[in-house]
Order: sequence, then C-alpha cells, then structure tokens
Amino acid sequence: MTEAGSEKLRKFCAEDIPPAAQLSAQAGWNQTEEDWRTLLELSPEGCLAMEVDGHLAATTTLLCYGRRLAWIGMVLTKAEYQRHGFARRLLAHALENADKMEIATIKLDATDQGQSLYESLGFRSEQEIERWSRPGENAAQLPAGRTSVEEPWRDLDSLVFGADRSQLLERLAQLNPPRSISQSYLFSRPGRVSAYLGPCVSENPRTARRLIEECVQNARCAWSWDLFPRNQDAVALARDLGFSPQRHLVRMARGKELREKENAIYAIAGFELG
Ligand SMILES: CC(C)(COP(=O)(O)OP(=O)(O)OC[C@H]1O[C@@H](n2cnc3c(N)ncnc32)[C@H](O)[C@@H]1OP(=O)(O)O)[C@@H](O)C(=O)NCCC(=O)NCCS
Repeated sequence: MTEAGSEKLRKFCAEDIPPAAQLSAQAGWNQTEEDWRTLLELSPEGCLAMEVDGHLAATTTLLCYGRRLAWIGMVLTKAEYQRHGFARRLLAHALENADKMEIATIKLDATDQGQSLYESLGFRSEQEIERWSRPGENAAQLPAGRTSVEEPWRDLDSLVFGADRSQLLERLAQLNPPRSISQSYLFSRPGRVSAYLGPCVSENPRTARRLIEECVQNARCAWSWDLFPRNQDAVALARDLGFSPQRHLVRMARGKELREKENAIYAIAGFELG
C-alpha cells in the first residue's frame, strides 16, 4: 500500500498538531491539541512523525527529564498504516536519540497493543498503572485552579518522581495553576472528553484527599485519573469519589533501575508524560 520512497521519518512540527490530535482521538485517547503542543514545546527534538504521501501516519514522542530519565509517549499509528513497522521504526529512532544523549533510564506506560513491541526493544515491566474515570458533564467546565505563591513541586517532585520534571510542571502551571497545601500539590487540565486529574504528589494521605476532594467535588465535569493500584490510599480515595477503573496499562523501563515513590504519587502527569 505504501510505495517505497513515499514514507518519511522526520521531526514532528507544529503543522502536525491537528492531524496528530485526530490520530489520538481515533484511538479513543483524551489528549487535546494543547497536550500535543506541550510535548512539542518541551521536546522539539524528541517528537517524531512518520509521513506517508505527505500525510501524518504515525507518531512517537520522547521527553527528556535531564539525562536521568526520558519518557516515551504518543506511540500511535493510523489504522490503515498499522503492521507496516512504523511504530517499531519510530521507537528505534527515539531510543537511538536517547542513547546518543546518554539518558540513563527510559520509561513508558504500555497498552496491551504496545507491550510486546516494547519488550522486544528491551523494556521490562515495573508495575501496573490504571486509568480511572468518573462520569459527568462536558470537560469544558473544568474549574480554574488557584494561583499559588509557593511552588512546592520544586523540591518534592524530583524526590518522589525520581527525576527533574520542573519544566513540565511549570508549563502545566501556566496553563492551569495547581492547588497546593503545604508540601502537597495537585494539577488538573482540560481533556478531549474528560478533565484530567494529575499530577498529584503528597506524602500525607489526608492532605491528598483534601486536595483531590476539593477539586473534583467543585466540578461537575467528567474526570480521568491515572493511578498506581499499589497506592492503596489513592485507590480508596478514587472509589470514595465515585471513580471506577477503565483501562489497565503497564509501566515499563529500559536501562538503569529508577523507581518512583508510588505511595506519594496519587495521580501521574499522563501516560505520555510520566
Ligand atoms: C501499537 C501500535 C502503535 C503499533 O503500531 P504499528 O505501526 O502497527 O506497529 P509495527 O508495525 O511497528 O509493529 C510492531 C510490533 O507490534 C506488534 N503489533 C502491531 N500491532 C499490534 C496489535 N494491534 N496488537 C498486538 N501487537 C501488535 C507486531 O507484532 C509487531 O511486531 P513484529 O515487528 O515482531 O511483527 C498501533 O497498533 C496503535 O496505534 N495502537 C493504538 C494505540 C496504542 O495502543 N499505542 C501504544 C501505546 S503504549
């Protein structure tokens, strides 16, 4: 179907954002054009596209958190181009870039469809991760966060997450200021079909509960929330607030061991972000 010579692996650019958002929507994912823009702005060298006859056919993103960790996301191939080796080629290119930059660890959150591909490229499973959701009205009604003077994520986040993702958090804070109480914080952002809750980091379950309850109960919109089932406080809280599990993924890693402190992570930043 695809003639040799018409395929091009190249950097993802701003013009790719609308077709890329269509691609993620076709897969049933919740990302918006703004989410794609965030990835491109934070990682102009790491976002890759496969073009066929001038059209976007597949994508993969690589977001670096210093040289300690890089995150693979948005591994998507348009239905009519699947099983042509596009995802494998894009991933191999992204991994080559990461190896050239001497990134110690590369991680991702794998769907069932992607898992065997990642295993064949040297990724190992670390732990389960789940999408929980709560129905509601449309996501456009996401309440604005509150501007906070403190930026507690500066110190705590890298201790809990394991790498410095302050550029990402600054970008998310500009889009919608987070809520914070002492050393705990919660971000939220609009999604395509439901508002997205996370990241949320707290070393105190009661504080995490207060932050999340206040955010979710003040908004009537539908919510999505990605959590580690190993964090039993997060699971209990999600159930209490009327969320239920929707999708099961597996967090996978390649390279040097790096474990997040999942008991202090109540919500991740996104499957494509970590
Ligand atoms: C997963 C996905 C990206 C694969 O894209 P692709 O371009 O078709 O993948 P490739 O042709 O490079 O195939 C790579 C390997 O994945 C496997 N694979 C591809 N599609 C698969 C599917 N639907 N189910 C199971 N395995 C699949 C193939 O066995 C292949 O292995 P091989 O090279 O040894 O034959 C694509 O099916 C997709 O976009 N799915 C929906 C979104 C998704 O789940 N993305 C993964 C996020 S972690």
